[in-house]
Amino acid sequence: MRTLLIAGNWKLNPTTAEAASALAEGVKHGLGAATDVHVAVAPPFVFLSQVDRVLEGSPVGLSGQDLYWENAGAFTGEISGPMLVDVGCTHVILGHSERRHGQGETSAQVNAKLKAALAAKLIPIVCIGETKDERLAEKTEAVLLDQLQGSLADLSPEEMAGVVLAYEPVWAIGTGLTASPEQAQSAHAFIRGWLSRTFGEATAGRVVVQYGGSVKPDNAVELLGLPDVDGALVGGASLKAADFLAIIKAGQEVAARGKS
Ligand code: PGA
Repeated sequence: MRTLLIAGNWKLNPTTAEAASALAEGVKHGLGAATDVHVAVAPPFVFLSQVDRVLEGSPVGLSGQDLYWENAGAFTGEISGPMLVDVGCTHVILGHSERRHGQGETSAQVNAKLKAALAAKLIPIVCIGETKDERLAEKTEAVLLDQLQGSLADLSPEEMAGVVLAYEPVWAIGTGLTASPEQAQSAHAFIRGWLSRTFGEATAGRVVVQYGGSVKPDNAVELLGLPDVDGALVGGASLKAADFLAIIKAGQEVAARGKS
């Protein structure tokens, strides 16, 4: 079984350094030394250094929410892979729907960012997912295919094995709507099938594919128990340490009992 990765995407929250430290403290103390699932948090850039200090000695990974494909230079407002590594990051989220749809980010740009993340030795979490209109028009698989091909272009199987994917149906993000277990498993199986055809079965078997979109303590066990779901990318529920810890606990239960 692939090791589950539960990651908390804090987005543009919380609004103070003190609150960011308190949230990180809560996760660190609640988790202790448990390592049967991988855990990471993605605070806003400005809090990364201090959250890294809070997390010292804990197995919780630290993630950026984005990066720029150039390492340094005249790029106002951007943050690079080496900068993220310098402040303690292990992971970076790329191509989140709030960037693809909110900021017009393309799969070609996500691909350039992915290559920069791999060069910086960060673990990239590449997000893909369809909008409500695309699902209603039965275009889910076509959209996923397009995003997979564009975002993951020119990767070797070895590079691919080190990339985490997050299937996040856009209509489920922050809405309280969750994909049904059938919808989630079907999308994840489609992604796994494409990985297998493109990179080979062995590589496809190694790639961690998270589900994201209104994951909460009360639906986590069911979603994480699905055969091709290897973790969760958690937004809203990662802002309360108790809720995030409950989702991690659900992952630990699934890890302990195994999947069929
Ligand atoms: P949500 O966000 O859990 O608040 O739906 C998920 C995400 O955007 O990664």
